[in-house]
Amino acid sequence: MSSEFRLSMHGQWSGRVAFILAATGSAVGLGNIWKFPYITGDNGGGAFVLVYLFCIVLIGIPVMMAEIFLGRKGGLSPINTMGMLAREENRHGIWRGLGWMGAIAGLLILSYYSVIAGWAMAYTVRMAAGVFVGATADGVTSIFVALTSDPERLLGWHTLFMLMTMTIVSRGVQHGLEKAVRFLMPLLLIMLLILVAYATTTGAFAQGFNYLFYPDFSKLTSESVLVAMGHAFFTLSLGMGAIMAYGAYLPKNISIAKTTFMIAGADTLVALFAGLAIFPIVFANSMTPAEGPGLIFKTLPIAFGQMDYGILFGTLFFVLIVFAAWTSAISLIEPMVAWLVENKNLSRIRASAYIGVLTWFIGVGSVLSFNVWEKATWSIPGLFKDLTFFDTLDGLTANVLLPLGGLFIAIFVGHLMAKHKVKEEMNSHPLLYTIWYALIRYVTPLLVIIVFLKAIKLI
Ligand code: TRP
Repeated sequence: MSSEFRLSMHGQWSGRVAFILAATGSAVGLGNIWKFPYITGDNGGGAFVLVYLFCIVLIGIPVMMAEIFLGRKGGLSPINTMGMLAREENRHGIWRGLGWMGAIAGLLILSYYSVIAGWAMAYTVRMAAGVFVGATADGVTSIFVALTSDPERLLGWHTLFMLMTMTIVSRGVQHGLEKAVRFLMPLLLIMLLILVAYATTTGAFAQGFNYLFYPDFSKLTSESVLVAMGHAFFTLSLGMGAIMAYGAYLPKNISIAKTTFMIAGADTLVALFAGLAIFPIVFANSMTPAEGPGLIFKTLPIAFGQMDYGILFGTLFFVLIVFAAWTSAISLIEPMVAWLVENKNLSRIRASAYIGVLTWFIGVGSVLSFNVWEKATWSIPGLFKDLTFFDTLDGLTANVLLPLGGLFIAIFVGHLMAKHKVKEEMNSHPLLYTIWYALIRYVTPLLVIIVFLKAIKLI
């Protein structure tokens, strides 16, 4: 059967807008609101942000176009799409392995993503109960510590979030998702603007702004560059097949380039707003930016505790974070679930249940990383130190597996597929196409390799 005329067996998006909404739902998530601010704080601010923005443009956007392109051309789960396209191009079957690596990376990411989404759920309840009204920085921090040092509580929220994710995935990703994203994403942006407006009243807005946008290159290490690149993949949901899986449901007549710009633009905007909201609060309350994964949970409640209608806004904001996490989480297991449905003839319900339980189980390790296993860390001298189970999974996926996935995608599309086929399927503006092809063929793979080699100190 020719790939040109086959509809995906998992259904199809109702059009361009639906795809943009779903892919934006996947991209915008904890990565933007939770991870971006805290890794920016850990890596010294402005210079890190600049490198991250470069990575979005020179690596993220080209890889996203390539992933959508591969997904739409293959029309199957990423594993089978890679297998089929490799066969079409007379390439080795090992390319299926790229799909596998991605599907596994997705499960590993979801396992800890769900734990953090659980924190956001716990905070929704605390916000609604008015716990943070008038709270000081110390008070907010102790509430955070009380939550994360209680493994049973974390496990409960993690379990609930996994159940929510499995419920949606088992029903097929299109249903209901479009509507939720369509009105929740704009609402999230509005809430972030309210927070940024609050941040301007703290007296430390200029300081926060400078921290975020004034690059101090003396603070930039090769590890920071690796983290920035890894985050470009993470935040755009790239390198593991999530966007490829969604691309399989995309109609043929839609411009991949335009669609990509909208998704990447929205994603970057949300991250920068989150940074603008958080760092002024950090400085106004004499906190340090390098608070680690707890950063937003220790800062934002101070803002909501002080502003008018703080209970209402705070509750709404954390509800929105949970939704943003939810629409991201489903894309993390979709590749694996789609593969089980195609190859093992399982129903979506069964496939989601198996994968969900497995992911939940791995997530228990991350639950324990913040309490019982807090001291169970490991190091490789000169490369990294004191990593917990959670840190290890996060570093392995975001900084290694995703860029590696992106590198192989770039090589496959840029060097192993017949040029005319790529051109035909992309079907975009000639100049735009030329730029993209040069990026995906030379620039993107070279940059990824250089950043890797620098990080392991080989160059
Ligand atoms: N991009 C999401 C976020 O920023 C997380 C995510 C969803 C993801 N799907 C992914 C990350 C696939 C890497 C790969 O929160």
